[in-house]
Amino acid sequence: MRAFDLVRPLLFRIDAERAHALTIAGLTRLPERVPKVDPVLTTTVAGIAFPNPIGLAAGVDKNAQAAAGFLTLGFGFVEVGTLTPLAQDGNPRPRLFRLPADRAVINRMGFNNGGLDAGLARLAARRPKGIVGVNVGANKDATDRIADYATGVARASTVADYVTVNISSPNTPGLRGLQTGSELTALLAAVQAARGTVPIFLKVAPDLDGPQIDGIARAAIDSGIDALIVSNTTIARPPLRSRHASEAGGLSGVPLRGPALQCLRDFRSATGGAMPLIGAGGIGSAADAYARIRAGASLVQLYSALVYEGPGLARRMTRDLPALLTRDGFGSVTEAVGTG
Ligand SMILES: Cc1cc2nc3c(=O)[nH]c(=O)nc-3n(C[C@H](O)[C@H](O)[C@H](O)COP(=O)(O)O)c2cc1C
Repeated sequence: MRAFDLVRPLLFRIDAERAHALTIAGLTRLPERVPKVDPVLTTTVAGIAFPNPIGLAAGVDKNAQAAAGFLTLGFGFVEVGTLTPLAQDGNPRPRLFRLPADRAVINRMGFNNGGLDAGLARLAARRPKGIVGVNVGANKDATDRIADYATGVARASTVADYVTVNISSPNTPGLRGLQTGSELTALLAAVQAARGTVPIFLKVAPDLDGPQIDGIARAAIDSGIDALIVSNTTIARPPLRSRHASEAGGLSGVPLRGPALQCLRDFRSATGGAMPLIGAGGIGSAADAYARIRAGASLVQLYSALVYEGPGLARRMTRDLPALLTRDGFGSVTEAVGTG
């Protein structure tokens, strides 16, 4: 039995958002002390050398308070945010729900954050040595959402190792409309015009049909951005058993694993390997990460599994992943990417 198995029932008696705040507060105090991992996990994507391919997904450390702590827990990179140009409260509480019987989470946070400048200043003041990406979004009340993304990209590029343009949150009405047609082309042009020297990643939803996936793949490649993150939470509701199953918002965790894997496969076919992909959605073990890499992901990210598996998860995954690679004769993560 792991120590977290004893702590979890206590943590689960506390409101989910409060438990999250306690976790961040605790990790803020953890200094950066990067654990050694097998060099077979070192991998270069979009010109960045990642010590291992297991990343912390956006939304955990929205205000860039604890990046160093998460790197100490063994993550190969941490994506802070989503940060919007202006601070905003997000949706009324409760807005974060655990679904234990499904090992899932539903959230409708709505980009609660302290604003781009505050987040970036905090990060700059205590910049970890490890890889930190900044995820940017648009304010709910923005009159020009694309301008918000341009602002985010320009400012975040000065501090981040990479910037993620998040157009796939289901909790800001209309935001996901930026994923298609002329809105997407205009967004990508504005982002390219605003970018600094660091790579730009685009984060998409799992709820896309074939023509939408083809459209995003083509627009992303044509624009010259650097990678796609597949995917955000889903608005779909597969059969669920937990009490909070019908809450509104985005669903993540184990029920998203199959759909997100399929979506990744579809993006791999649509891009033909011409653009790096980052897999997210329901990843909670080295085997999950490995399956995502074989399906086309150069890196992976996770959030919900931390709720159920605890803070030792990244270290366990980086400990177990090398054996899966070498079992199948791969000398590196890159060699395994997209091998089916
Ligand atoms: C409570 C919560 C808040 C999130 N907030 C953000 C966010 O601010 N920006 C973002 O790009 N993704 C956000 N996400 C999505 C995650 O980054 C991730 O893409 C998704 O949860 C799927 O991964 P998982 O199944 O490992 O959780 C959030 C997810 C959760 C559960």
